[in-house]
Amino acid sequence: MSLPSSDQTKQPDGLTTMQLGAVLPKTAQVKDGHLFIGGVDMVELAHEQGTALYVFDEEDLRSRMEAYRESFHSRYANSEALYASKAFLNKEVLRIAQEEGMCLDVSGGGELACARAVGFPMERVFVHGNNKTPQELREAIEAGVGRIVVDSRIELARVSKIAGELGVEQPILMRITPGVEADTHEYIKTGCEDSKFGFTMLDDFAFKCVGDALAAPHVKLVGFHCHIGSQIFALHSFREAVEVMIKFAARVKETYGLEITDLDMGGGLGIAYTVDDKPSSIDEFAECTTSAVKDCCARYGVAEPRLLVEPGRSLVANAGVTLYTVGILKTLPNIRKYVAIDGGMSDNIRTALYHADYEAVIANKADQPRTEIVTLCGKHCESGDAVVLDGSIQHPEIGDTVCVFGTGAYCYTMSSTYNGQPRPAIVFVRDGKARVVTRRETYADLMARDL
Ligand SMILES: Cc1ncc(COP(=O)(O)O)c(C=O)c1O
Repeated sequence: MSLPSSDQTKQPDGLTTMQLGAVLPKTAQVKDGHLFIGGVDMVELAHEQGTALYVFDEEDLRSRMEAYRESFHSRYANSEALYASKAFLNKEVLRIAQEEGMCLDVSGGGELACARAVGFPMERVFVHGNNKTPQELREAIEAGVGRIVVDSRIELARVSKIAGELGVEQPILMRITPGVEADTHEYIKTGCEDSKFGFTMLDDFAFKCVGDALAAPHVKLVGFHCHIGSQIFALHSFREAVEVMIKFAARVKETYGLEITDLDMGGGLGIAYTVDDKPSSIDEFAECTTSAVKDCCARYGVAEPRLLVEPGRSLVANAGVTLYTVGILKTLPNIRKYVAIDGGMSDNIRTALYHADYEAVIANKADQPRTEIVTLCGKHCESGDAVVLDGSIQHPEIGDTVCVFGTGAYCYTMSSTYNGQPRPAIVFVRDGKARVVTRRETYADLMARDL
């Protein structure tokens, strides 16, 4: 793993923090040169709590959940937004999701256990995964989850058997691979045909398996699911996927006599990681999806089903930031300037994994223009360990507090303890108050399971 070579012609953008637009959490402000989020001084917070530190703007988080609920409900009453907890999982975010009227998407037993621990209503939980273990399926069915999203014919038989043993009839959706190519990064595209997820439509396989699902005892097929990818900017991909799914439902109705009650279109709405990113709004996404469903249902003669969407990234990514302290500066003339921070691929693997882009500022110089191009590298034993590659930032000095924006999704949940690095604490900020909702890992935690 190594870094892509640096572009020596790249110029710093000269922007100050408040010019970073959609990348910023909703309550971001600059006062006396310091970055504030939720009314809390990020520099003081970093000094109090230590770094690396994940910080979430609770107002931002709640307002996006509300936006999903309202944008969909106002256009399509029979709809629900599911929070895809893989994006960011701890007990507090699940409590907030419940308070904000979300349903929940869990993948696997651990996410389900967390939902159970906070008393999330099980009938509002949807269970995903391409290889749920028999144990995980049993736990889910025993817990009384609302839907299991069945991913394969093998799993269909397993769910049916376990439900039978437990004496229940389990409502299921079938995950279909609609063959729609989403306009996004190749690594996170899951809707195209070459996918480990779901029932393929090739050779009419998915369609034939509907017959199996209807014939299987102890399960009740109520609808279909698809997820065409993540960080999607082109809304037309969703419209295309809706058309494929409704056409499929129409054929199912005609052949098998089943009128589906649920259509789950998955997650995937893109967000702004950089100033140049121009994602669609939640409202535009809702307009596109709901109008496509209404339109296609009318065209193909299908009753309008309950419409479900499963946002993860677009709920939490921009609500979250990560704070670090600058420890080492290293300039290699005509090659690169390294600014080493006290975290890296252990708290944010996305850059090392697929060269993800982020914007960063120095929180104690937040009113100053970004006048340098640097690589924010981590502290880990990998050359490719970086969080920002050749990004604009204010003049960095040792001891500065760096804030990286847009790290609320797929950072904490993909974190590791590589090099024995304890995972950062998570702090929620709101109305001038900061509360630790997940404490920092300790060295003892690192060894807690060793015998
Ligand atoms: C089945 C499913 N639903 C929802 C999501 C959430 O996607 P996003 O975070 O892009 O909204 C994912 C992400 O991989 C997924 O696999």
